[in-house]
Amino acid sequence: MSEQADELAIPRDFVKDLFDLRDRTAVVTGGGSGLGRAIAIGFAQAGVTNLILDVNDEGGEETVRTIAGQAGPPAQYRHVDVTAKSEVEAAAAWAAETVGRVDILVNSAGSAFRSPAEDFPEEKFDFIVGLNLKGTYLCCQAFGRVMLEQGAGSIINLASIGSFIAYPWASAYLASKGGVLGVTRALALEWRDRGVRVNAIGPTLMDSPLTRAAAQRTSITADFIKARMLRPRLGLPRELIGAAIFLASEASTLVTGHTLMCDDGYLVA
Ligand SMILES: NC(=O)c1ccc[n+]([C@@H]2O[C@H](COP(=O)([O-])OP(=O)(O)OC[C@H]3O[C@@H](n4cnc5c(N)ncnc54)[C@H](O)[C@@H]3O)[C@@H](O)[C@H]2O)c1
Repeated sequence: MSEQADELAIPRDFVKDLFDLRDRTAVVTGGGSGLGRAIAIGFAQAGVTNLILDVNDEGGEETVRTIAGQAGPPAQYRHVDVTAKSEVEAAAAWAAETVGRVDILVNSAGSAFRSPAEDFPEEKFDFIVGLNLKGTYLCCQAFGRVMLEQGAGSIINLASIGSFIAYPWASAYLASKGGVLGVTRALALEWRDRGVRVNAIGPTLMDSPLTRAAAQRTSITADFIKARMLRPRLGLPRELIGAAIFLASEASTLVTGHTLMCDDGYLVA
């Protein structure tokens, strides 16, 4: 067979390993709660060794215990504030030492604050944008360097329906999530010929501690979003696991700079 015909052939067992993540390592920021925790547990069930980074020590340790309880590869937790560059860089060095390589990075550390734009407190704006956007950027940068050195890696950022549309009392959050799209595309472009893919997942409103905490301040934002849903139901954290496995695996080698919406069709309507 000629070399070209070889490349075009589909080997008999090609699909068998397409989604295989066994023996991969993942760093999951915000893995101590909600969506990050679900993705880390899903990864562990696929054979991935997780490093959980969070500032919520109890939550982080709980994720590690849950994975151990399911006999997943031993996960480790480290207290890391993703908005502190020195902590993020120390974590990247620790990860490379502890597990040798970083195949996957999930940036799920994030928060929300509800306020009318005209009264949005400056320090809350700085906090939300600093965490959701700069925190994501700093982690992409530090763990991206490890991946570039390896010549391989997959980064998955948490975007949102709010990366594309607006809803009330969430101006800092919307600004930060629009920024996450820009970072995702920028890094995908810069790193596309060096083996590092950068994508995002865009969830609908999810049933998570973040959503519940934000709703305590006001239901204006959630009511607005829910009124425009195709069917009135929040997403479940476990419903993002398949998308994360797809983006982390060989099944998505041509996918970079993309935002995979997991929004129950929200943006279609
Ligand atoms: N919940 C939703 O409806 C929804 C929808 C779309 C996108 N998202 C995004 O998904 C991500 C995860 O959301 P979630 O619902 O799981 O929230 P969550 O509050 O359940 O979890 C977020 C985690 O981030 C951690 N964290 C906060 N500040 C940190 C810091 N400085 N350093 C490290 N960790 C920090 C928290 O301790 C927490 O464990 C966020 O980026 C969020 O914006 C959430």
